[in-house]
Amino acid sequence: MSQTAVEMPTIQGLFGGNMMSPIEDPYRVYARLRDESPVLAVSTMMGINYLVTRYEDVTAMLRDPEVFSSRGNARAIGLVMGRTLLEMDGVEHVRHRNLIAPFFSPLAMRSEMPAVVDEIVNDLIDDFAGEGAADLVSQFTFIFPMRVIAHIIGVPIDDHAAFHRMALDLISIAEDPARGLAASQELVTFLQPLLDRRRGEQGVDLLSKLLHGDVDGHRLSDEEVLSFLRLLLPAGADTTYRLTGTVLWVLLHDPELMERVREDRSLIERVIQEVLRWESPVQLVSRETTRDAELAGAPIPAGMIVSACIGAANRDPAKFDGPNLFDIDRNNEDHVGFGFGRHFCAGSHLARLETRTAVNALLDRLKDLRLAAGEPTRIVGVAFRSPDRLPIRFS
Ligand code: HEM
Repeated sequence: MSQTAVEMPTIQGLFGGNMMSPIEDPYRVYARLRDESPVLAVSTMMGINYLVTRYEDVTAMLRDPEVFSSRGNARAIGLVMGRTLLEMDGVEHVRHRNLIAPFFSPLAMRSEMPAVVDEIVNDLIDDFAGEGAADLVSQFTFIFPMRVIAHIIGVPIDDHAAFHRMALDLISIAEDPARGLAASQELVTFLQPLLDRRRGEQGVDLLSKLLHGDVDGHRLSDEEVLSFLRLLLPAGADTTYRLTGTVLWVLLHDPELMERVREDRSLIERVIQEVLRWESPVQLVSRETTRDAELAGAPIPAGMIVSACIGAANRDPAKFDGPNLFDIDRNNEDHVGFGFGRHFCAGSHLARLETRTAVNALLDRLKDLRLAAGEPTRIVGVAFRSPDRLPIRFS
């Protein structure tokens, strides 16, 4: 049955907050939607948005870019990032993606990157290792991925806090357009002089590749390079910090599992994999219908924004048994925490390397690592999820 504007729910009404609010439990809402309204039109600040919550439908739409095009991202995140991979389809998407792919390939993650990440992570731990206490979010997880991505791109970022704030403001466009646009402009003001300087140099980092590589026989314009950077900085920083934070949250809340992992470090990969399913850091990705479409028997008119709710799909009992249970021994290979289809996360190998390195270093260096007593921490968020704080003690 089609919904009328009068009965159309809002995001606020569904979740009790907006997409960036620190909501603790969106999963009860998702369970109801999967059962009762697997394709639900909701009213948002950016217009009508169809939420898709079943695993089967989420993967169906993400494997069909002809009907569910990425161009819809131009209407939200594209406003602050500019034209990026996220809103491209077909050949254009492949050609642009190929430019950056070598920097994030499994080979790159085996050659120079492990040492780079290890150094960045250990430098940060040096700052609090002698203190016996720390907040792992504000002092660690929040900072190191920004340093890593800045290194890969070749952007000297002295003020990581300011950069991270810009990255967060940028991706909050759907909730606060003015803040998002201001951050976008701020980033350009910072990056443009750097581009001017680097055009005349021949480096080997990603920025040089973007400045000197070509797509279809033409060099990227400054605007195209800036757009790439406005994508990569938040994509590389705002996601991994959430994954690492939730992995640490899980270990700190389950001392037995922490001991197992301390003894057998190969288990870190399994914890990471299960966190990507159980508390997906990125909870939804959007597409636009190129023509009238149908999912789960529900009609979706052409030109509509459709959001694949990754977080809901990853807890669909039709796909994962007892989906609310965190279990590193389950079969979770098919989770969609890094997306699905042609836009599958370009930085997935880096995210895994960063998180693995961070957890290993913390376990190596902080003995008797535990949560600070009496300081509850929560995993929160709707569009993105991670712990708000991780106060720890150690000896
Ligand atoms: C835990 C960490 C991460 C998660 C959960 C994550 C999640 C995602 C998801 C769900 C998508 C799909 C977007 C879509 O289908 O529209 C995506 C795309 C992307 N991610 Fe990640 N990401 C993470 C880390 C990273 C890192 C470290 C980078 C490095 C720069 C990165 C770069 C990208 C890029 C460039 C795309 C666009 C790919 C394309 O459109 O072809 N991500 N990511």
